[in-house]
Amino acid sequence: MISKDLNLAATILREEGIIGLPTETVYGLAGNVFSEKAIKEIYDIKQRPLYNPLIVHIKNTEELKKIAIDIPPIAFELATKFWPGPLTLLLKKNFLVPDIVTSSKPTVAVRMPNHPIALALLNQLDFPLAAPSANPFGMISPTKAAHVNEYFTDKLVLDGGNCETGIESTIVGFIDNEVIIYRLGGISIEDIKSVSGEVKILNKNDEAPEAPGMLSKHYAPQTPLFFTNDIENFSKKYKDNRIGLILFSKSIEIFSDNWIQCILSPKADLKKAASKLYETLHLLDKMNLDCIIAEQFPDEGLGCVINDKLSRASKND
Ligand code: TXA
Ligand code: MG
Repeated sequence: MISKDLNLAATILREEGIIGLPTETVYGLAGNVFSEKAIKEIYDIKQRPLYNPLIVHIKNTEELKKIAIDIPPIAFELATKFWPGPLTLLLKKNFLVPDIVTSSKPTVAVRMPNHPIALALLNQLDFPLAAPSANPFGMISPTKAAHVNEYFTDKLVLDGGNCETGIESTIVGFIDNEVIIYRLGGISIEDIKSVSGEVKILNKNDEAPEAPGMLSKHYAPQTPLFFTNDIENFSKKYKDNRIGLILFSKSIEIFSDNWIQCILSPKADLKKAASKLYETLHLLDKMNLDCIIAEQFPDEGLGCVINDKLSRASKND
């Protein structure tokens, strides 16, 4: 059920239930971080493996003390610059956080979301909210309340409109003096570097993923998706098929009436394009197409993130 009733959402959460939570990145499936009952239900209805830990959402840096300890100064610098916002920090866990939230890891993932409704809700509660993205395991992340409602029909979804960032948070951890990016997301690599100097990027580790959600196959639509750096020629192979094209800023010469072209940002704005990516995937996935073909985006800023998400969603690698 989609609702704007903040009080009802707060009551459900206090009674150890779970709700769909709008954030600026994607919608989350949220529960009281200290309630094992709520956390178990999140893993359960998401069909998420218990080895894949959740992100904790806090309302202010004061609340961080309940969640993490021994916070390195560089983490504070990043938080000061980017919170509230799409940055998740991996920090040493406070013993108060139940092991099920962190899959028994010694670290906990934390962020302060930049969404007025999420912050208003958190301010009504005296506990932080653990929330993974509100999609069944392996499916496209939701960027509007209706997406969550389709996935989890019997849950209350707080309506916060379309997610402004539209892709998940960037996950950053710290080992010795090194700053490590484990997942590309709404804050670009360049932005992280502007605060931390050098960073190490460790976001493709299928063997023993540090951020277990980073397996290379992820975020996939049901329709086969191809990702190419030569969209004109690649698409020609499918001229007799019904295909959906995901393009950055310009259309390509149309070869068939069966084709649907989705231009993510006619003004070639990568931020805008990123915010449209999942919504477009949701839309195309509902059209019964033979396949989706996405072009490679410029490899800079949020373009790197879009390329990362598309290559994980694609069939060809
Ligand atoms: O933007 C976002 O981050 C959204 C919104 C709802 O906040 N949340 C989100 O959660 O994307 P989720 O569960 O879909 O992705 C969380 C990622 C997973 O890849 C998980 O493995 C990683 O964070 N993670 C969480 N806790 C971790 C930990 N202690 N150590 C390493 N990775 C962790
Ligand atoms: Mg997710």
